[in-house]
Amino acid sequence: MFNNNTIQRFKDIETPFYYYDLNVLKNTLDACRDASSKYNFHVHYAMKANFNPKVVDMVQSYGFGADCVSGNEVKAAIEHGFDKGKVVFAGVGKSDKEINAALDADIFCFNVESVQELEIINELAAAKSKVAGVAIRINPNVDAHTHHFITTGLDENKFGINTWQLNEVAEALRSLKNIKFLGIHFHVGSQITDMEVYRNLCTRINEIGEWFEDRGFAIKVLNAGGGLGVDYYNPDTNIPDFKSYFEVFSKFLNVKPGQEVHFELGRALVAQSSSLIARVLYVKNGQKKNFLILDAGMTELMRPMLYQAYHSIQNLTQESSIKNQEISNSGEAIKYDVVGPICESTDCFRKDVDLPQSFRGDLIAIRTAGAYGEVMASNYNLRDKVESVYSETIG
Ligand code: LLP
Repeated sequence: MFNNNTIQRFKDIETPFYYYDLNVLKNTLDACRDASSKYNFHVHYAMKANFNPKVVDMVQSYGFGADCVSGNEVKAAIEHGFDKGKVVFAGVGKSDKEINAALDADIFCFNVESVQELEIINELAAAKSKVAGVAIRINPNVDAHTHHFITTGLDENKFGINTWQLNEVAEALRSLKNIKFLGIHFHVGSQITDMEVYRNLCTRINEIGEWFEDRGFAIKVLNAGGGLGVDYYNPDTNIPDFKSYFEVFSKFLNVKPGQEVHFELGRALVAQSSSLIARVLYVKNGQKKNFLILDAGMTELMRPMLYQAYHSIQNLTQESSIKNQEISNSGEAIKYDVVGPICESTDCFRKDVDLPQSFRGDLIAIRTAGAYGEVMASNYNLRDKVESVYSETIG
């Protein structure tokens, strides 16, 4: 991701910023398209992972659909050229305003998370003399074996409708006239790399699909959600395992003629294409600890502080050949707590990071930050908005 020219270029740019390697993004999107089209699977991009305009435009150019979680995401997806017939709208708390906006935009499908929501969508659609396409988001009680803060498919989670409520759903679907039942939707969690989880999900989708079909509800859409994880420990391994992922669904999902299989991938498409680039402001050598104090913190990348997420950290200046030759680097790694400038003790990217001896002004890369990075930035402490920088060529 970083050759000497890139690092040279960074020297003149104010930090912190997100650096997007558009070649990595392209390679990832190519791999996803190739692996999914083999089975005619429909991929929607989970906009929440990253709505940097260049990223969104590039994803859109692949013909993927958009998975949105707010009225503004629906609006942005359509403005960026996503086909409204490929826009799905999930979210446990859709407001009336958002539902109305999505109805006006004639999106493909609402992924509905409660019986009450179904009734409200029906009511709002009726007021516009429209019929809303819906998929029922069902909580399959499948353990995603991921960090508990990003698990969504267990009975204890707020998302989706639990299976014991399905009779009520069926009754509502029969009586509500401004709703068109399209199918069933699932999403069990994020950063899942264990394919066994998806195999278990397939079993549950098959069972729940049967349940609906046995009661006379034809299913057109089987939406398995997103969640495919990336390798945060090897940031230069650019391509997530799309092949194994889609293969599991092709093998274990019962797909009847006329049915479509949909996915909502976020992280896997964008995580590896970006790094947060910061500078060392101060080096504090304490008796017990050495601190590298960066000009980026939890306001620019929240994941380590919120989910104890691991991001690989590199000192680009010391690793590159453009380092200041007058500074003799002993070559031995030093352990640093890499921290930000924010007035919170949790504002630490990682403790005890092995790095070459580092100095004020060194450029630091926090890798694999393309998903849930820039989008989760805040201006806490009245921080400036974080900027984006792009690779200059796409080959
Ligand atoms: N579909 C639904 C209904 C979702 O809730 C999500 C993510 C996705 C698809 C996309 O999941 P992905 O393919 O990106 O795993 N901020 C957390 C992750 C939150 C995920 C929220 N839902 C993080 O930084 O790890």
